[in-house]
Amino acid sequence: MLAVFAPVHSLAGSQSVLEPASAQAREIAWLSWALLAAGAIIFAIVIGTAIFGLWRGRTGDDRTLSARASRNLVLFGGVVIPAGILLSFVAVSALVGRNVSAGAVGALTIEVAGKLWWWEVRYLDHAGNHVATTANEIHVPAGEPVRFLLRSEGVIHSFWVPNLQGKTDLIPGRTNTSWFRADEPGIYRGQCAEFCGLQHTHMAFFVIVEPPAQFAGWLKRQSRPAKEPQTPGATRGRRVFLAACAECHTIRGTPASARKGPDLTHLASRRTIAAGTLTNSRGNLAGWVADPAGIKPGALMPSMPLPPHDLHALLEYLESLD
Ligand code: CUA
Repeated sequence: MLAVFAPVHSLAGSQSVLEPASAQAREIAWLSWALLAAGAIIFAIVIGTAIFGLWRGRTGDDRTLSARASRNLVLFGGVVIPAGILLSFVAVSALVGRNVSAGAVGALTIEVAGKLWWWEVRYLDHAGNHVATTANEIHVPAGEPVRFLLRSEGVIHSFWVPNLQGKTDLIPGRTNTSWFRADEPGIYRGQCAEFCGLQHTHMAFFVIVEPPAQFAGWLKRQSRPAKEPQTPGATRGRRVFLAACAECHTIRGTPASARKGPDLTHLASRRTIAAGTLTNSRGNLAGWVADPAGIKPGALMPSMPLPPHDLHALLEYLESLD
């Protein structure tokens, strides 16, 4: 079933811990390399010592160490040095952890809520009012700190954008925070990193890092209500939407204001649908509306068996919502 829909590989951004694009991710990448290097050196010493012991056994060399030397070998090689190495790992990890979690004053604040199985993304102004709501696509300004308030209802998810920051869990009943400052414009793929049910795999999102002026323009457009339909088809499509979809979705500027599903006010401006599962094209949208469970089994959205002319009108309306 899935094979007939265009997947999102064509626009997939980078998703790699080893290509850091923020100061926070660079610290994490540095720590990974440092631990790998230290581990490799210790591995080489241990294996080298074992091979040396085997080789000595085979050659029948039965010279033994003095009791004192044996004791020191066990004491330092087996206790003092490993304990020192492990404690320094702990100290360095704690230091990196403190650096990557230290927040910034005056940062742009974005609320991210984990849903089954998608992400609700709401932008706050400095007074704490919601100014725009979108889904599965997070635009941020390059070079500026961004703070995330992470929430969930029901089950635990984990917010992870490997190029930009480490994982932070979204835990029901509490608000966790994360933040990063992305270096420069780019597209990065994020992924839920905590098993949360049947469609955990298809709970992705994209972080679009833009020059600050471009970001400001995007946020301004996102905070506006939806466009009025400009064609008879789109006008009809809005009627279909209000009758069939308004129970779960919001389109600001219309009576539809439910929050069970994603806010669709500017759906056409997004690159993907179904939480990064499909590119946002007319064909994919038609397939998704007609049979969400065929694409994401277990998805909470019911299938919408609309007559063809209603479906076409609905698609025409949804595609006009840029
Ligand atoms: Cu949400 Cu895994």
